[in-house]
Amino acid sequence: MAILPIRVFPDPILRQKARPVKRVDDAVRRLVSDMIETMQSARGVGLAAPQVGELRQVITIQVPEQDAFAMINPEITRRDGSREVTEGCLSVPGYSGLVTRSIHINARALDENGGRFKLTAEELLAQAIEHEVDHLSGIVFLDHLIAHEELHKVGTSPDEPHWHDVGYTVYAQHAPTLARDFELVEVMNTVARLSRLNAESSLSEASYDLADGAHESDLHSHDHSHS
Ligand code: NI
Repeated sequence: MAILPIRVFPDPILRQKARPVKRVDDAVRRLVSDMIETMQSARGVGLAAPQVGELRQVITIQVPEQDAFAMINPEITRRDGSREVTEGCLSVPGYSGLVTRSIHINARALDENGGRFKLTAEELLAQAIEHEVDHLSGIVFLDHLIAHEELHKVGTSPDEPHWHDVGYTVYAQHAPTLARDFELVEVMNTVARLSRLNAESSLSEASYDLADGAHESDLHSHDHSHS
């Protein structure tokens, strides 16, 4: 098992759609066990494969007092009710926001042995599954914010002054283009303008609000190798 690096907003992979798993094989089981270890080490209640750089429909979930489990090709088949909840994401570290989630859901998926299962979930478990299934479609909780004012740095109250733009550094690793054993590493400082997001933002509007100077090609080269 291994702890995998978690991709952080606005890494473009978080906006891509994951593809279904065709066969649940050892590679998928290894991904599941690595994701569970990564989720536990980050103290998350859920993790989706795109967050660790794999565009496959695999999520892992662990709510308090329960064992971790995986859902492969998960589908939410029914949603009932709605409630406002505070939510965060391992890919948007340091922020939480107020979103609307279902009270109760029904879902189905495959397990690590390829067996089909169904489940019904409420409260935190339902919220976690909705959140992780969203990741498989390139949706992050920021898209569900009730208003951008409802996004807060963790630890501040809604009444305190706060800001919504996150400065961060991207380390771009380029695969060697010559048959030589070295990698170029590019460091890019930029800002994610979360302040431009609101509940009505389309996915494309919400995509990469990068500061000037960041080019598309720089973003796409931000790829980890998974050897
Ligand atoms: Ni997340």
